[in-house]
Amino acid sequence: MKGNILVVDDEQVVLKSCERILTPEGYQVNTAASAKEALGLLDKSQYDLIITDLMMPEMNGLDFMKQVRTKNPDINIVVITGYPSQESIKESLSLRIVDYLPKPFSPILLLDVTNKAVELKKKGVAPEPQAEDYTEETAAKLDEIIKKHKDRPGSLIPVLQESQELVGYLPPVVQRHIAKGLKAPVSEVHGVVSFYSFFTMKPKGKHNIRVCLGTACYVKGAEEIVKKIGDGLGIEVGGITGDKKFSFETVRCLGACGLAPVVVVDKDTHGSINPVKVLDLLKDYEA
Ligand code: FES
Repeated sequence: MKGNILVVDDEQVVLKSCERILTPEGYQVNTAASAKEALGLLDKSQYDLIITDLMMPEMNGLDFMKQVRTKNPDINIVVITGYPSQESIKESLSLRIVDYLPKPFSPILLLDVTNKAVELKKKGVAPEPQAEDYTEETAAKLDEIIKKHKDRPGSLIPVLQESQELVGYLPPVVQRHIAKGLKAPVSEVHGVVSFYSFFTMKPKGKHNIRVCLGTACYVKGAEEIVKKIGDGLGIEVGGITGDKKFSFETVRCLGACGLAPVVVVDKDTHGSINPVKVLDLLKDYEA
């Protein structure tokens, strides 16, 4: 069993589809049609992940998450909502959710988010970096980045962006360095890094491949492309090849839906890709 998941939603159709997607992938799925029912289940069983709706009668998702946090400060939570808004993203983030998924979502996206959230719980934190990624010189450059932004409001995001450009990814040691420099809690830095898909805690290969799993790309066969790349390179989503030439990840809509399905390699956008074309495309980068 890959993990124990609790899905909370007042719509039966959503509960059923989460169950249908996650159970065959090896997850044990329990469902609750209300926050109250979910709190009762949480008293009886241990879960690796809660997937919860926000708009529910009697108790909404935010109040539910607040109660969950008092019982279990460490459990991972993913929000699913048909009414996404900046405000609810902000409030959910303050409750340390690991992801926020607007409905409707594709099966592969739900699976991807679930796999990542459960993996995060099992590892506790992302792996520590290799020594060459965090040298004294890197630490000094991180200090320069922090100094440049620290007195400006909303400094965390630009500091993370520039730090990721510098190191290539944001391992825990870099997050701790940033948290110390900005006098922010490590949990806040970690929450932002895990939330935004453009931040990564894993090292990248020389060429980074991103396959869009947004709805337009999904309906045009992105799932097959993901499989083809995984088989072709011998790595899973989120992995890096042994020679560090390629890393491979999936992302939400890249804003190029007219070109679906879309694959981005480094900064190059490739549209109308199919499973046959994609391996030829990668050969060009290999050369
Ligand atoms: S859904 Fe893939 S680019 Fe928009």
